[in-house]
Amino acid sequence: MKVLVVGGGGREHAICWKLAQSPRVTELFCAPGNAGIAQVATCVPIKATAVDEMVQWAKDNAMDFVMVAPDDPLALGMVDAMEAAGIPAFGPRANAAIIEASKAFSKELMKKYNIPTAKYETFTDLDAALSYIREQGAPIVVKADGLALGKGVVVAATVAEAETAVREMMQDKKFGASGSTVVIEECMVGPEVTVLAFCDGEHLVPMLSSQDHKRAYDGNKGPNTGGMGAFCPSPNYTAEVAEFCQKNIFLPTVNALKAEGRPFKGVIYFGLMLTKDGPRVVEYNARFGDPETQPILSMLDSDLLDIFEACVNGTLDKVDIRWKDGAACCIVLASGGYPVSYESGYPISGLEEAAKLATVFHAGTKVNDKGEIVNAGGRVLGVTATGSSLPEAIEKAYAGCKPISWTDMHFRTDIGKV
Ligand code: AMP
Ligand code: GLY
Repeated sequence: MKVLVVGGGGREHAICWKLAQSPRVTELFCAPGNAGIAQVATCVPIKATAVDEMVQWAKDNAMDFVMVAPDDPLALGMVDAMEAAGIPAFGPRANAAIIEASKAFSKELMKKYNIPTAKYETFTDLDAALSYIREQGAPIVVKADGLALGKGVVVAATVAEAETAVREMMQDKKFGASGSTVVIEECMVGPEVTVLAFCDGEHLVPMLSSQDHKRAYDGNKGPNTGGMGAFCPSPNYTAEVAEFCQKNIFLPTVNALKAEGRPFKGVIYFGLMLTKDGPRVVEYNARFGDPETQPILSMLDSDLLDIFEACVNGTLDKVDIRWKDGAACCIVLASGGYPVSYESGYPISGLEEAAKLATVFHAGTKVNDKGEIVNAGGRVLGVTATGSSLPEAIEKAYAGCKPISWTDMHFRTDIGKV
């Protein structure tokens, strides 16, 4: 089969790497891809958000199957558009991708269907938002309604901090239209766990649990990022927690979306907090997480194309999904200054040596005109290893980072340890 993956980050490299192992995939394409993805797929220079162009290319080149990985093309309806062109596509339609694209929508859905989450109110009026914050007191959490590259959330320790956040979103339009509606919610406390689950509109199969590290620096300090590393499974996610989540969060979410006429096919990302009162939803995403996907797919023992097709065809209950024993860990190597500002174009050395020790997924890389692989984004590489235990996986992943360097490269040294 001829398969196209849409996207070009570390997550998409892991998806392409896994799909390339399927005997059923005869030709693999990725748009736009990156320098690492080019080692396993043919890269197509089309932006992930260019819906019409992508559909036209998929038609012209007779794709048999398309996998849409990032949030924005999903929210823009790329899966709907592929379907309309008669091309089977993995991922939620726009009306289901809204669980990520609008926090106000997802909070309302959880309230309506009694799915445990933080108490909240939604505001479109600045003064009303400010007086709610003063009334509730701190700590309190302020979220821009729409997509904001994972940066539209402020966990405010003081009322003043929360007021500033609301003003920046609603008045100064820091996140553009994404912040004209804000959600203000109760601050929850507890370990965070991510569970990604395959869905076919009706059935849901959770993958291994995982944890990511959102802060830029060691000790969970510094600004929030897209994720500086991840590991799986999470030791906090016990069989008892898993049973509670399946019954009270996962299945009710799939059923709620179906009942609302928005059947979800694709991957639901459940961001969970294990509070003293039980697991609660922090957020939903409508896609694989990045970098959680890199360790998770490293642990998958089944054919990923079979699973994707089962999600599209509504036959997820019939497909065999097996995981390796042990654990996996991914360390993100980032450009110096990420997530604020950084320089690109520095040649990266040590990639061949690293590849003998771990799997090096590329996130933001490209080949320059001298043929060198250079950094071309904030998160640059995701060095990933599996092991018989989590400590072993962590050690192997860090060993794989050792040979790699470029000017100002930055990474956390405590992934999986805090
Ligand atoms: P989100 O983009 O919704 O995942 O939020 C980013 C991060 O903010 C989460 O991973 C949590 O660490 C934190 N966060 C979000 N909502 C809450 C909440 N209600 N209480 C405490 N922390 C939160
Ligand atoms: N790692 C967080 C996310 O993908 O949203």
